[in-house]
Amino acid sequence: MNSLGLFPAFVSLQTLFTLTAYQLNDMAAAFSQEMESGLHGSSQSLAMLPSYLTCPTGREQGIYAALDFGGTNVRAMLIKLHGQGRFTVLAQRAAPLTDRLACYDYTTSRTTVSELFAFVCTLLAEIVPVHGTITLGHTFSFPCRQTALNDARLLHWTKELAVSGIVGHNVNDLLQKALTTSGLTRIRPAAIVNDAVTTLLTAAYTDSTADIGSICGTGHNTCYLEPHFPGSSRPMYINIEAGNFSAVPANRFDDLLDAASDRPGSGRLEKMCSGRYLGEIWRLTCLDFAQKGLLGAKQFPQQWQTPYAVTTQDLAALLEASPAALVLPPTLVQQDQLFFRTAASLIVVRSARLVAAAWTAVLRRIDPELSRPHIIAIDGSLYEKLPGYAAAITASLSELLGKKASQISCRLAKDGSGVGAALAACQGEN
Ligand code: GLC
Repeated sequence: MNSLGLFPAFVSLQTLFTLTAYQLNDMAAAFSQEMESGLHGSSQSLAMLPSYLTCPTGREQGIYAALDFGGTNVRAMLIKLHGQGRFTVLAQRAAPLTDRLACYDYTTSRTTVSELFAFVCTLLAEIVPVHGTITLGHTFSFPCRQTALNDARLLHWTKELAVSGIVGHNVNDLLQKALTTSGLTRIRPAAIVNDAVTTLLTAAYTDSTADIGSICGTGHNTCYLEPHFPGSSRPMYINIEAGNFSAVPANRFDDLLDAASDRPGSGRLEKMCSGRYLGEIWRLTCLDFAQKGLLGAKQFPQQWQTPYAVTTQDLAALLEASPAALVLPPTLVQQDQLFFRTAASLIVVRSARLVAAAWTAVLRRIDPELSRPHIIAIDGSLYEKLPGYAAAITASLSELLGKKASQISCRLAKDGSGVGAALAACQGEN
């Protein structure tokens, strides 16, 4: 088939994955409404979870333990806060939650809470100082209903994790119990914090204009500083659990992915824009086009037949088109290669545009006229590494906010989960 033969396939791909500014504005308006009702406990999809944390002063000092549990890796750290926004990582140990070579997987329903936290404690044991007690902040990157900084009940798992015995329980108590069982009684867990919040805390430690934090990685989420949280006399960081937003402009491949996922109907925005899912959207789309005979090749390559066989790293490699990183089978006809790359690019750009629409809603809530500068602190591999991602977000913000977009500066805030957890532990101590 020549390139003209593939023309209808390209047109239909564009139609499926291109979002207009009109659609994004609509989504931002619906997102704002959901934020408002979520703050009063009646949202369909945005939980708007209070963090019991407020902005750091920048003067926080001391040595704290930090635990980062995000769903892919677990990391234990010892962090020294110097004040004036400065910090040093004194020690750190990390391990993946799944390691096929070492024959373990701490992410499935076959893992119990005690097995998981015993594993976490082996890492903490390696960083904890030999003498004295130490306060710990725990970045736990899942939706928790909090009634205090140290009382956070897991509402449900996201990002396809399924460890048993945690949902509904106070994660701080579970960790405390595991620390006691492991003989680590010198560690005092004082704070459970979402990763979007730790990212924002870290940025706000050095710059008080940082008032939105976001994760664009395996999962997607956003938090912000809410000036008037019902029942609180001071501004509070709110974990929106943005990935669960449901009024999304989804296409049939998003619906297919959702139907086959662990929790159909939930996490609809996350399933369209986070690293856990982008490769699978691409795989489902390309498989469908191949099966309908719309591509040049008669058969879809065997290595892509399995669900989740294609990762976001594979898409990054496709976009970079570097020969070393090429994931395309050499047998593919040239038009198909172009089709696969175009699909990757459209899916990545759509993700960035959805994220920009959600941030637009948050910005319009906290500063409707955009009359002052805002820093959006972002962590996550998509924002940091995916070719074209950060640029597509900036372009979409300009499209949605016009000239006022110059008030917004998007800033990569790496490793917030460590420093932010230490800052949260510091607020928990006081
Ligand atoms: C998922 C979690 C959320 C977390 C995000 C990024 O959306 O539900 O709590 O912040 O992933 O890790």
